Amino acid sequence: MVIVLLAMFLVFSEYVNREKSQVPYDQVSNSEKIVRPLPIPPLLEDTNKSENISDFEITAKRGTKSFFKGSQSSTLGYNGNFLGPTIRVQKGERVNMRVNNALDESTTVHWHGLHVAGPGDGGPHQVIAPGKSWRPSFNIVQEAATLWYHPHPKGLTGRQVYKGLAGFFIIDDDRSLNLNLPKEYGKNDIPLVIQDRRFNANGQLEYETSFIYSRNGMFGDKVLVNGKINPTLGVGTAKIRLRVLNGSNTRIYNLSLSDRSTFVQIASDGGFLNRPVKLRSLEISPGERAEIVIDFSKYSVGDSIRLKDPRFDIMQFIVNKRVQDKTTIPTRIGDVKKIPRSAAVRKRTFVLRSAGGGVAKQDLTINGKLFDLKRIDETVGRGDTEIWEIRNPSSPGENLSLHPLHIHGIHFQILSRNGRAPAENERGWKDTLLLHKAENAKLIMRFEDFKGVYMYHCHMLEHENAGMMAQFEIK
Ligand code: C2O
Ligand code: CU
Ligand code: CU
Repeated sequence: MVIVLLAMFLVFSEYVNREKSQVPYDQVSNSEKIVRPLPIPPLLEDTNKSENISDFEITAKRGTKSFFKGSQSSTLGYNGNFLGPTIRVQKGERVNMRVNNALDESTTVHWHGLHVAGPGDGGPHQVIAPGKSWRPSFNIVQEAATLWYHPHPKGLTGRQVYKGLAGFFIIDDDRSLNLNLPKEYGKNDIPLVIQDRRFNANGQLEYETSFIYSRNGMFGDKVLVNGKINPTLGVGTAKIRLRVLNGSNTRIYNLSLSDRSTFVQIASDGGFLNRPVKLRSLEISPGERAEIVIDFSKYSVGDSIRLKDPRFDIMQFIVNKRVQDKTTIPTRIGDVKKIPRSAAVRKRTFVLRSAGGGVAKQDLTINGKLFDLKRIDETVGRGDTEIWEIRNPSSPGENLSLHPLHIHGIHFQILSRNGRAPAENERGWKDTLLLHKAENAKLIMRFEDFKGVYMYHCHMLEHENAGMMAQFEIK
C-alpha cells in the first residue's frame, strides 16, 4: 500500500516538475517561415527639401483589401487602401499639410495629441467636402511623442475610422534622437495600431449604427494589428520598442506577453515618462498610446512569444536571429515637470453619463448635455492653468460605463485617481484617460500658446458620435 502511494507520489511530482520546467513560451522550429508578417506603415515622404519645413500630402480614399482568404472588403485609407502612412516630424519644424478628400462624403483630419491652434486641429469644424482639400500649416512646438491622425466629422468619425482611416504622427526632438533607445523605424522601433473588427458574411466591415451599437460600441471578434489579423514580427535577440496605439472604436485591451515576462513602458500619450516603468500588463483604451520596450535578449532563436489580451492573441514575435544589442534604456528618460496645484486659477467638473437604461433615447452626455456644434461649453483663458475633475458615476444596470476621456489641443497631468496618486506609468503627459466605473480623476493642464475651439469627448467613437462630446474655447 505504502509502496503504491509512494509510486503514485513520485509519478505525480514528476508530472508537476515537468509542468514547471516546461519552457513558458511556444517553440517553433528555426527554419519556420514567417507567415502573415506584420505590415509596417510606410513613412510619408516630405516633399519640401529645406531643413526646417515639411510638406506632406495625404488623400482619404476608398479601396478594397483582402483581410483573410476570400475576403474582398471595401475599405478606406489615406494614400492606400487601409490605414495611412506615418507622418514623422521634428520639434521646431514648420509643417504644411495638404489633405485631399477623395471620398464621396465629408471628412476632417484631426491630429490627435498635437499642440496646435484651433483652426488647424481638424475637429468637426474643419470640414473637407468631397473632392476638396484642406491645407493647414503649423509649427511643431511640443516634445517627442507618438501621436496619430484620424477623421473627426460630426456623426461619421466612428464609421470612417472603422473602415480604415487612421495613421501615426510621430514627433522627434533632440532628446529622442540622442537617447540610445531602439529608434530604427520598422526595425527595432515599430508602430503598432491595434483595432478589433467584425466582418459580415460577405467579408465586409459593416458599421452598425443602430441604437444598441451606439450605446455598447462597435466591438469586433478579430483583432488587426497594422491592418493584419494576428500578424507575426521576426525579431532579433535584442530590445524592441513598440509604439502601441489603441485605434479601436470601443475595445479596451489588457496587453501582456504569453510567458508573463515583464516589459518596460517609456512613453505615454504626450511623450517620455521620466523613468521607465516595469509592467507585466498594460491597460490601453481607445485613443491612448504607450511606447513599450520588450527585451528579447533572454530568448533563443526559434522561440515565439505572443502579445495577448485575456480574450485575444494579438500578434506574435518569432526570434529569428541572434544579434548584439547596442541599445540601452536609461534610468532617466523624460523631463516631465510637475505642474503645481497652486498654479491653477480655476477648477471645473465634468460628469460623464451613460444613463438611459436601455430605452430608445440615446443618452451619453457630458454634464447632462449632448454635443452641439454651435455651443461652446467652456471658455478658458490662454495662459491659464486649470484643474479639471472628471467623474464617471456608474449608474446601476449599465453594462458599459467606462469612458476614455480625450481633450484636444493640450496635454494634461493626472493629479489623482479616486483621491490617490496615479500609477507610475500615468505620471507623464496624457491626452486621453480611461475612467473606470465609478471613478473620478483630477487633471491639471496649461492652456498655453494657442487660441481656438477644441473638442473634449469620450474616445469610444460610438459614444462620441452619440453625443458624448463638448467643446472649449481658448481665448
Ligand atoms: Cu482622437 Cu477628438 O480625437
Ligand atoms: Cu484629439
Ligand atoms: Cu464613453
